[in-house]
Amino acid sequence: MSRKKKWMAGFLLLVSIQLLVSCGKQPDTPDTVSLGVACYNQSDAFLSEWIDCLKKEMDGLKNEGIMTTVLIRDAAGSQRTQNDQVKEMLAAGCNVLCVNLADRTDPSEIIDLAREQDVPIIFFNREPVAEDMLQWDKLYYVGADAKQSGVMQGELAVAAIEDNSRIDRNKDGKIQYVVLEGEPGHQDAIIRTENAVETLKNSGIELEKLSFQIANWNRAQAKNRMQQLISQYQNEIELVLANNDDMALGALDAYETFNHTESALPVFFGIDGTKAGLLAVTEGRLSGTVYHDKEGQAEVIAKLSAALVLGEGMDEIPFENERYIYLPYQKVTLENVTDFD
Ligand code: BGC
Ligand code: CA
Repeated sequence: MSRKKKWMAGFLLLVSIQLLVSCGKQPDTPDTVSLGVACYNQSDAFLSEWIDCLKKEMDGLKNEGIMTTVLIRDAAGSQRTQNDQVKEMLAAGCNVLCVNLADRTDPSEIIDLAREQDVPIIFFNREPVAEDMLQWDKLYYVGADAKQSGVMQGELAVAAIEDNSRIDRNKDGKIQYVVLEGEPGHQDAIIRTENAVETLKNSGIELEKLSFQIANWNRAQAKNRMQQLISQYQNEIELVLANNDDMALGALDAYETFNHTESALPVFFGIDGTKAGLLAVTEGRLSGTVYHDKEGQAEVIAKLSAALVLGEGMDEIPFENERYIYLPYQKVTLENVTDFD
C-alpha cells in the first residue's frame, strides 16, 4: 500500500470509529426498520382497515427520524402460502416480522425460519396458543381481550332490552336470539359468544336460543346463513348477536332482501367498529358495536418494531406477562358513535 493509501485507510477507520462512538450503537445495529407484514386474508374487512392503520403508524416513525420500509403479503387463508411468504420476506431483508397467522395453531415453521435469522416476530389479532409463544424469547403478541368484547356486547344488548320493551316482540317475557359466529378455533369466536350470552343471563334476562350459525367473519356468508334462519324462524327472531360487524351487516342484508317492515326486525349487535359498522350504528340499523382498537394496536406494533430493531425504547412498551399487549375495547352506540370517526 502506498503511503497515501495507508493514510487514507487510517483516516477512514478513525472516522467510522468516531461515528460509531457518537451514535452509541453496536456496529451491527441496522438503521432501518424493515417490517414484513403477513396477513391471513386481506379481504377481511377489519384487517384491511387494520393494515391501513399500521402503514400510517410506520410512516409516522419517519417524523421521529426513523427510516422504515414495509412489505405486506396476503396469505388468502393458507398457512402454507404464508410460510412461503415469510421465507420471501426474510430473504428480502426484513428485520422484524408482524404475523397474523392463517392457522393460529400452526406457527412452528414461521418461528423456525425467523429464529434462524434472529428476526423477532410480533403476532397480532390471531393469538398463538400459549405453548407456542414459549418456543422462543423473541415472540410477542398484540391484540385485545376476547372476553372483554363479549361482555361489552352483552351489556349493550342488556341496556337495549331494558330500555325498549318492544324488542320482546311476541311478549312472552323471553328474548328469542340467534348467534352468528366467526371461524371455529379463533380465540375471538367462541369466547365472545359465551361472554355475551352469559352477561345477558346474569343480568336476569330470559333468553331462548333459536340457533347458532358459523359465518367465518364474512358478510356474504352471514347473509346466506341469516336468509336460511329467517326462512326457518320467520318473525320469531328478536335479537342477533354477531361475533363481528361484518356478520351483523350480512344479517341486515338478509332482512333487506326479505323486505321486512321495521316492526318485524330484530335488534343487531356487532363487534369491531369498522367503517361500515359505525355507519350502520349512526343510521340506527345496528343497535351497537364494540370498538376494536386497531389504531392503538398499530401504534404499539410500530413502536415495538422500532424498539426491537434499533435496540432502544423497550422499557416504554406496556407489556403484560412480559410479551403480550392487549388494548381495551369500547362500547359504541348512537350516543357516542361520533367519537369514533
Ligand atoms: C375481528 C374480526 C376479524 C378476525 C380475523 C377478529 O378479532 O373482530 O372482524 O375477521 O379477527 O382474525
Ligand atoms: Ca320474545
